[in-house]
Amino acid sequence: MNDTGSVPSAPAPVAPLPVDRLVDGFGRIHTDLRVSVTDRCTLRCTYCMPLDATFKPREDLLTFDEFVRVVAVAAGLGVRSVRVTGGEPLLRRGLPDLIARLVAVPGIEEVALTTNGLLLPSLAGPLREAGLHRLNVSLDALDDEAFRRIARADGLDRVLAGLEAATAAGFTGIRVNAVSVRGITEAQVVPLARYCRRAGFHLRFIEFMPLDAESAWSGAQVLTGHEVRQILEGEFGPLEPAPGTDPGQPAVDWRFADGSLIGFIDPVSHPFCDRCDRLRLTADGQFRNCLFSTSEWDARALLRSGADDLDARLASLLLDCTAAKRAAHGIGEPGFERPVRAMYQIGG
Ligand code: 5AD
Ligand code: SF4
Repeated sequence: MNDTGSVPSAPAPVAPLPVDRLVDGFGRIHTDLRVSVTDRCTLRCTYCMPLDATFKPREDLLTFDEFVRVVAVAAGLGVRSVRVTGGEPLLRRGLPDLIARLVAVPGIEEVALTTNGLLLPSLAGPLREAGLHRLNVSLDALDDEAFRRIARADGLDRVLAGLEAATAAGFTGIRVNAVSVRGITEAQVVPLARYCRRAGFHLRFIEFMPLDAESAWSGAQVLTGHEVRQILEGEFGPLEPAPGTDPGQPAVDWRFADGSLIGFIDPVSHPFCDRCDRLRLTADGQFRNCLFSTSEWDARALLRSGADDLDARLASLLLDCTAAKRAAHGIGEPGFERPVRAMYQIGG
């Protein structure tokens, strides 16, 4: 237990299953691959990136051909959903072309994108045409000063314009993600809930995780989902857990009396590692089995090795990465080790 009330959530080990699917030592089947396409960003959110971030040289990033190849191999191992992240993925030139190619990979049923929204005014239309299924937009604050305190740059107006453009382009079920940081988020909770309810966006509060580049995270800085709900109840009346919430999703929905929903992703106070179905590929081509992995599996070296049995070797690398997955992230427990890379280098 830590000072945010975190309780460990660890699955029990089970006997190994056949190896043609991405099953780890705890029986978790992996069907979701998060693909980061760049480590660059136009913002410098305190919880993600340092002010003086340095970025990988272009040649270290996977090409579109390489991403598609890896995703096709992953699909052959049971991956069904791809989430494109960054950094800020819309900074990657030609991204709608990559989206169209990922949507076309046999076996892939859903391609989603997580973005800070700044470039959506020009890209929402092309992304929709490319067949992107789902958009997650990060928005932590609705007043300029709070936005600037978190993002260390201006841009609120453009994010709001981006959300409008996404709606106009025909995206539905848009999710808005707000990271909850004590001392900042309290005053944003009610305005964000009002705005998202009015616009028809699905708002989700995400507890601040120790992935900031400046290692400033402490449990005391996490505004928990429980605390956010208390603020919401003070304004809008009682919330109750929504029936039928997908237990496979880390986000748990709660319902207001009028039936509208709000989501909570509480990785610190209520770890959902026991249900985790995600693997990750960093922009520079490293497989990771957890946001908090301390090891990586080098797909880029393999992709560029000239191996003629490349697909089989990529598959076995991804299986190895999956097999090595730990039971839980262990935030707040003795011996917890932060990953060396910060969020922008991993992909949210
Ligand atoms: N803790 C929680 N969420 C984070 N994100 C980025 N860094 C952190 C962190 N340290 C969120 C972003 C975005 C998603 C990719 O991850 O706000 O919504
Ligand atoms: Fe950029 Fe998103 Fe990281 Fe903020 S959280 S710096 S918007 S990648």
